[in-house]
Amino acid sequence: MSISTLRERCLPYLSFVDQYRSQEIYPYFRPIEGVRGPEVLIQGSWRLSVASNDYLGLSHDPRVAESAVQASRQWGTGLGGSRFLCGNLSLYQELEGRLAAWVGKKTALVHATGFSANLGAIPVLLGRGDIVLCDRRVHASVLEGCGASGARLVPFAHNDASSAAGRLARARQKMPQGLPLLITEGVFSMDGDLAPLPDLLALRERAPDLLFYLDDAHGLGVMGPGGRGSAAHFGVTEGIDFIMGTFSKSLASVGGFIASDDLTVMDFMRHQSRSLMFSAALPAANLAAAMKALEIIQGEPQHVERLWRISTQARQALQGMGLDTGGSSTPIIPVKIGSTMLAALVARDLLELGVFAPPAIFPAVAQNQALIRVAFNSAFSDEQVERVLSAFAEVARRHGLGQDGPGPQA
Ligand SMILES: Cc1ncc(COP(=O)(O)O)c(C=O)c1O
Repeated sequence: MSISTLRERCLPYLSFVDQYRSQEIYPYFRPIEGVRGPEVLIQGSWRLSVASNDYLGLSHDPRVAESAVQASRQWGTGLGGSRFLCGNLSLYQELEGRLAAWVGKKTALVHATGFSANLGAIPVLLGRGDIVLCDRRVHASVLEGCGASGARLVPFAHNDASSAAGRLARARQKMPQGLPLLITEGVFSMDGDLAPLPDLLALRERAPDLLFYLDDAHGLGVMGPGGRGSAAHFGVTEGIDFIMGTFSKSLASVGGFIASDDLTVMDFMRHQSRSLMFSAALPAANLAAAMKALEIIQGEPQHVERLWRISTQARQALQGMGLDTGGSSTPIIPVKIGSTMLAALVARDLLELGVFAPPAIFPAVAQNQALIRVAFNSAFSDEQVERVLSAFAEVARRHGLGQDGPGPQA
């Protein structure tokens, strides 16, 4: 196969990209020329960003930045190898201990990202002949991990425990020896809805050997007492075998981790997770930033409280404009648009009105269910929240969004 054959394979997809570029509504990979708290500099103007997952606004907290700088000075900017060999700073051990205690587990294992945690951990837990029962809307990194494991992927209807029960029962008839693991997210990343963890855990009444793996990327720092996550919110931490978290949201850094009470399985994971063993260790700055952010979350509950206050009021205001915010009950507010083109037009107009909110389109959401994902963070002032809401009121008017459905430009 020559490079021209390869190029021909790429062209059908890129024609979609070119169409959006030629109409000047292409919303992705926008160069960010500066960042100032919740504001980003794009094409020379400051805009309010509701696109980031930095839910508590800690990536601009001077204490977090100072910790990262200090750690770089002390430990260097890179480790030159994986944790397995030469990168396992003692900072790792300290951070893993604190993370485990925070989420209510005995031990934790830090990976380079949340993606790499899911990709590395799932194939350690399962193999060919096992069953992985997954909510249909789980994150791409979970699906990659499931694919790499070789286990049979059994998807169940989103947030539907009875669908999960039925799918599990059928899979077990075919594979009675297979170890079953259920994977779901605590707070779903696009729609902001919560998994019904108690209902899902009740599946154990019929299948006592069912293991649970919770991707709580968007729940940690946001849900439950002290931001301890979705399992803590429902009071079911003990029943969850593995909790996965990331530093790239509330913890204001980059990195990911798996926490569990089972020291044997976790020790095995440490020696078998390919994304951990064959990839460089996170530098000290990332670890120190996450550690400081965690300390702030634990010591200053006002950040989580403010996030909830702002988000709840904003969700009500958006609904008051007639906008469809789906079933979200968390700080992730999806404004449902439908057509990809309309979502791109709405995002362009929001940008012009000073709000940065790129649309979520397929495959992040189902085909023709594009949405604008709105995520405020605790660092927004009341006046900034008002500016975002006014921009949404204006785009709703321009595009006829609301209870009567999209207008002529759809
Ligand atoms: C639900 C979920 N899991 C995992 C990840 C991956 O996390 P990271 O950004 O740390 O790679 C994300 C990030 O978008 C996510 O939303």
